[in-house]
Amino acid sequence: MSTHNGVKLPQSHAVYPGSFDPPTNGHLDVIARAAAIFPLVTVAVVVNPQKRSPFFVLDEREEMLRRCTSAYANVRVDHFRGLLADYINRISADVIVKGLRVVSDFENEMAFAHMNRSLSNVDTTFLMSDSSYSFVSSSLIKEVFLQGGDIAKYVPAVVLECMQQKRLAHGRK
Ligand code: PNS
Repeated sequence: MSTHNGVKLPQSHAVYPGSFDPPTNGHLDVIARAAAIFPLVTVAVVVNPQKRSPFFVLDEREEMLRRCTSAYANVRVDHFRGLLADYINRISADVIVKGLRVVSDFENEMAFAHMNRSLSNVDTTFLMSDSSYSFVSSSLIKEVFLQGGDIAKYVPAVVLECMQQKRLAHGRK
């Protein structure tokens, strides 16, 4: 937590957690909004042992996020294993940021927010991404891309390039 003239600044370090497999324009929209509100935003990629075959490995996801957020001086990219609540404590962050696209997102997020507060007394702030991204999710992007659809509108150029490279590396057009 930072201070200003000796006064503790509350909620000055925000953590925006996610799988980011891959990062989408919706994620970037939330990052931009968070960076305009909080002095420091850590975009934290979860190392999720349950998801055995991600499209991008952890290093690739972090690298894409770094390239996509390089314009923001107050955004850093990191990763974590285990509980988000423990990670928040470890790095002394103050608040969690989550993006909401549609009302149904809120149903799960509310339980997560209560659990995280119960575990580590950290609050969650919800930022609504632009309505033009309301239907954009990483899983849908992968599905459309793998079926040959055009995803250029939904992901940053860096991500599109990485997805195309990955497809070439696997010998598919
Ligand atoms: O992008 P995603 O996959 O929707 O992100 C989900 C994420 C990473 C925010 C959530 O799975 C998470 O917080 N995982 C860490 C493990 C944890 O703390 N689980 C309890 C959540 S209350």
